[in-house]
Amino acid sequence: MRWSTMFIMVICVMVTGFGFQLWLAPNKIFKATTWVPLSKRIISRISSPNEITNRCKPVQNFAFVKTHKTGSTTLKTVINRFGYARNLSFILYEDSSTGHFNYKKIVASGNKTNILPPIGVMFGDFDHYRGYNISNVHLPYNHSLYRQLMHPKSLYISILREPSSQWLSAFRYFRVYKVLKRQFSNMTDAVEEFMKAPDRYKNKNAYAWNNQLLDLGLEKVHFSNKTKIMKHVKLLEKDLKLVLITEYFDESLILLKKLFCWSMDDIIYIKQREQGSHITVNDTLRRKILDFNSGDSQLYGFFNKTFWKKVRQYGPSFDNDLREFRTRLKDLEKQCIHEGIEKPAGDGRIYIQYVKKQGVEEVLCDMLINVDFQMETLIQSRQGGTNSSYRAENKKEQSGIPIQKNTLANQTFTKNSTTYPQDTEIN
Ligand SMILES: *[C@@H]1O[C@H](CO)[C@@H](O)[C@H](O)[C@H]1NC(C)=O
Ligand SMILES: *[C@@H]1O[C@H](CO)[C@@H](O)[C@H](O)[C@H]1NC(C)=O
Ligand SMILES: *[C@@H]1O[C@H](CO)[C@@H](O)[C@H](O)[C@H]1NC(C)=O
Ligand SMILES: *[C@@H]1O[C@H](CO)[C@@H](O)[C@H](O)[C@H]1NC(C)=O
Ligand SMILES: *[C@@H]1O[C@H](CO)[C@@H](O)[C@H](O)[C@H]1NC(C)=O
Ligand SMILES: *[C@@H]1O[C@H](CO)[C@@H](O)[C@H](O)[C@H]1NC(C)=O
Ligand SMILES: *[C@@H]1O[C@H](CO)[C@@H](O)[C@H](O)[C@H]1NC(C)=O
Ligand SMILES: *[C@@H]1O[C@H](CO)[C@@H](O)[C@H](O)[C@H]1NC(C)=O
Ligand SMILES: *[C@@H]1O[C@H](CO)[C@@H](O)[C@H](O)[C@H]1NC(C)=O
Ligand SMILES: *[C@@H]1O[C@H](CO)[C@@H](O)[C@H](O)[C@H]1NC(C)=O
Ligand SMILES: *[C@@H]1O[C@H](CO)[C@@H](O)[C@H](O)[C@H]1NC(C)=O
Repeated sequence: MRWSTMFIMVICVMVTGFGFQLWLAPNKIFKATTWVPLSKRIISRISSPNEITNRCKPVQNFAFVKTHKTGSTTLKTVINRFGYARNLSFILYEDSSTGHFNYKKIVASGNKTNILPPIGVMFGDFDHYRGYNISNVHLPYNHSLYRQLMHPKSLYISILREPSSQWLSAFRYFRVYKVLKRQFSNMTDAVEEFMKAPDRYKNKNAYAWNNQLLDLGLEKVHFSNKTKIMKHVKLLEKDLKLVLITEYFDESLILLKKLFCWSMDDIIYIKQREQGSHITVNDTLRRKILDFNSGDSQLYGFFNKTFWKKVRQYGPSFDNDLREFRTRLKDLEKQCIHEGIEKPAGDGRIYIQYVKKQGVEEVLCDMLINVDFQMETLIQSRQGGTNSSYRAENKKEQSGIPIQKNTLANQTFTKNSTTYPQDTEIN
C-alpha cells in the first residue's frame, strides 16, 4: 500500500479517535544482524549532551506505571530509547523478551527472584537486585513493592484513557466477549449483550471491569465503594507526579518533558496504530459502560482535572511548545516514512509496519520506526536476558558487561526498606 493511501487511513483513524495502540509484533521480524549495528548508532545519536540548562537536571530514575489499552506502549518506546542510550537499568522479567508482562507476579523475596539484575550486578546476587532506574512494564501499582525495587529518588508517572474507549478497546483486544459464550455478528451486539447483565461477567476476565483502577493497584473487592476509591485516588495523587491522558497525548508529553527536564528529542515518537477495531456504540450504551466502570470514571475524572491544572501551571508558553512539538513530529513523519505496510499480527488482527525513507535523519528514523522491538531485545540482553545459552553456561556473568557490585544498592537498600523517594532537583 502506498504511503499516500496510508496517510489518509491514518487520519481517519485519528478522527475516529481510538488513539495510540500498538500491536507487539513478533520479535523474530528483527534479525540479530540488523539490531546490533543499530544499537551503536542509536548511542552515538542520542547520548550527545541534552539541552541541559542550569536550572534542572534530567530525571533518570522513574517508574512508568503502565495501564492497558491506553497508549502506554507508545510512551514505552520513548522511555526505552531514553534509558537504553543512558545505560540505565530496567525492571525486566527474566523469562520474557517481548515486553508483555501482564499481571505476572514479581517474586522478590529471600534468595529467589524472577527479574533480571540491574547492570553491573551479578546474576543470582539477589540482595543487590535493587535500585533500578526505570520501570516500564505492566506491573500493577503497589507502593511498597515499587519502592523495594526502584532507585530511592525515582519519580512515578502513569497514563489514563477515557474509560468507555479504554473498556471497548480491552473488550476486543483481550477477548472479553468470550465470557458471553456465544457468537455475535458484530462487536456492538456483543457489547450490548454484556451490558444487559455485566455483574454476571465482570469477574470472568481480568480486563472486564475497572481495568485502569486495577492497574493502579486497587483490588476488585473495593470497586463498589466510592469512598474507598476516592481514598485510593488521593493516595495516587500523592505518589504520581504526573498522570498522562491518552486523549491529550502530545500535551502530556509536553508536561512530561518539563517535569523530567528532558529535551525535545527525548520525547519524539511515531504513532503506531491498530486498525479496524473501533466499536461503535450510541450514547445509551456508552453511558452503561461508564456506569458499570464507575471506578475508572471516578479515577479518570479526577486526573483529567489535575491534568488541566498542570497545563495552566505550566504557563503561557504551553501552546507554543505544543505547536513546536507537533511541527517536529509532522516533519519527522515526512522525513522518515516511505510507506506503511499492513501486516498480520498472527491472530487475525493487523498492524502497520512502516518502511523508512533512505537518507535524511536516517539514524533518528531507525530509532523511531519499530525500534521498540529491537530496543526491547537490546535492553534485555544488556541485563543478561536474551542469551539463554550464555546464561546456561555461566550464570554469574552478563554478556559484555564487566562485573562490579552495585555499591549504591548495597548501602541504601534493605529488603524491608520503606524509604520514600525524595524529589530530584526540578524547577
Ligand atoms: C554505556 O555503556 C557503554 C558500555 O559500557 C559505554 O561505552 C558508553 O559510553 C556508556 N554510555 C553512557 C551514556 O554512559
Ligand atoms: C534459598 O533459601 C531456602 C530457604 O531459606 C534454602 O533452603 C535454600 O538452600 C536457599 N538456596 C540458595 C541457593 O541459597
Ligand atoms: C541508576 O541506578 C544505579 C543503581 O541504583 C545508580 O547507581 C545510578 O546512579 C543510577 N543512574 C542515574 C543516572 O541516576
Ligand atoms: C504489595 O507488595 C508487598 C511486598 O512489598 C506485599 O507484601 C503486598 O502483599 C502487596 N500488596 C498487594 C495488594 O498486592
Ligand atoms: C450488528 O448486527 C446487527 C444484526 O445482528 C445489526 O442489526 C446491527 O445494525 C449491526 N450493528 C453494527 C454497528 O454494524
Ligand atoms: C468503604 O470504604 C471506606 C473507606 O475505606 C470504609 O470505611 C467503609 O467501611 C467501606 N464500606 C463498605 C461498605 O465496605
Ligand atoms: C442504542 O443502541 C442499542 C443497541 O446497541 C439500542 O437497543 C438502543 O435503542 C439505542 N438507543 C438509542 C437512543 O438510539
Ligand atoms: C477532560 O477535561 C477537559 C477539560 O476540562 C474536558 O473538556 C473534557 O470533556 C474532559 N474529558 C472527559 C472525558 O471528561
Ligand atoms: C550467546 O552466548 C553464547 C555462549 O557464551 C555465545 O557463544 C554466543 O555468541 C552468544 N550469542 C549472542 C547473540 O550474543
Ligand atoms: C554489602 O553489604 C554486605 C552486608 O552488609 C557487606 O558484607 C559487603 O561488604 C557490602 N559490599 C560492598 C561492596 O559494600
Ligand atoms: C527490617 O526488619 C527487621 C526485622 O523485622 C528490623 O529489625 C529492621 O530494623 C528493619 N530495617 C529497616 C531499615 O526498616
